[in-house]
Amino acid sequence: MNTAQITALSETVQDFLPLNGIDFVELYVGNAKQAAHFYKTAFGFQSLAYSGPETGVKDRASYVLVQRKIVLVLTTALSPTSEIAAHTHFHGDGVKYIAFTVDNAISSFEETTQRGAKPYLEPITKTDKQGSVIISGIQAYGDTVHLFIDRTNYHGVFLPGFQKWESHYNPTPVGLAAIDHMVGNVGWFEMNKWVDYYKNILGFNQLMSFDDKDISTEYSALMSKVMQNGTGKVKFPINEPAEGKKKSQIEEYLDFYKGPGVQHIALSTPNIVETVTALSDRGIEFLKVPTTYYKELLERVGHIDEDIEILEKLGILVDKDDEGYLLQIFTKPVEDRPTMFFEIIQRKGSRSFGKGNFKALFEAIEREQELRGNL
Ligand code: FE2
Repeated sequence: MNTAQITALSETVQDFLPLNGIDFVELYVGNAKQAAHFYKTAFGFQSLAYSGPETGVKDRASYVLVQRKIVLVLTTALSPTSEIAAHTHFHGDGVKYIAFTVDNAISSFEETTQRGAKPYLEPITKTDKQGSVIISGIQAYGDTVHLFIDRTNYHGVFLPGFQKWESHYNPTPVGLAAIDHMVGNVGWFEMNKWVDYYKNILGFNQLMSFDDKDISTEYSALMSKVMQNGTGKVKFPINEPAEGKKKSQIEEYLDFYKGPGVQHIALSTPNIVETVTALSDRGIEFLKVPTTYYKELLERVGHIDEDIEILEKLGILVDKDDEGYLLQIFTKPVEDRPTMFFEIIQRKGSRSFGKGNFKALFEAIEREQELRGNL
């Protein structure tokens, strides 16, 4: 056996939970019909599938949207006694499910629950005329859940029970291509507990870590560790608040989401200038950094392909490391509670997360916190 074979074998042995990627992200929202309209109009998502009373589902309505590899599901309760209604009453709109595509949803459930995961859904088979899907699930931080989806034997539009959603209203996509990473905010001193959860229960590795010295401004601080799964397809930074002179942005999130949850979803694009121009034209609001950021930019990152004047006009940030650079920008929260937001990211070699932008970015977040009276 040669070295490559040994490496391949040891990786196979170690990765007891091979994930093929994020299958979909499902948000529980107060009004899924209107949220779907927002994600189509503002973010350029396309109508894919629907389930609700018309398809025989009585307690909820779900709209499935797609843009390239990103699948977003928006679900709302149809009755006040539903657990979906309780979830949105408590948390506001937010991510309920982060679903992974797997080859085997039964072994995914067994491997993780044997290692200590709290079961959420025992493996079940859902079937319709287009085939069958096996789904299982485990609890993650807060009320967030990881689902395992084995759709090997399914040819339908989304999942059994959903029908194709044909709409006459189809705004053009804005170039969003895939989920780059998803960030979880957890409670005070709980980061390492959740890092261990991803390490020991899901077999992730720690990619990098940032402490409060990396991520602090004059006023507030946070700590973060980035977890990555064995196939490298799933990246989950985990944040916890840290002590500062004023309230950490993570603490503000926890106060309003009423506990741990998804802080942001980073969506990649092959052309951030085009994507952000389109998003901005469609009404998406982004965090802005002071113009001094762009005066120092060339000195900090050296030559880049993009025109810095255009980046400044749009508010796009740049960071560089040994492998290349990345461009990124953050929306303001997309709900009235200051909770979940989106990041738009274009990677040009860099596999990092924009450490060089943390200070400018967090100062921008603090200005917003201050406007809300939460700093
Ligand atoms: Fe991010």
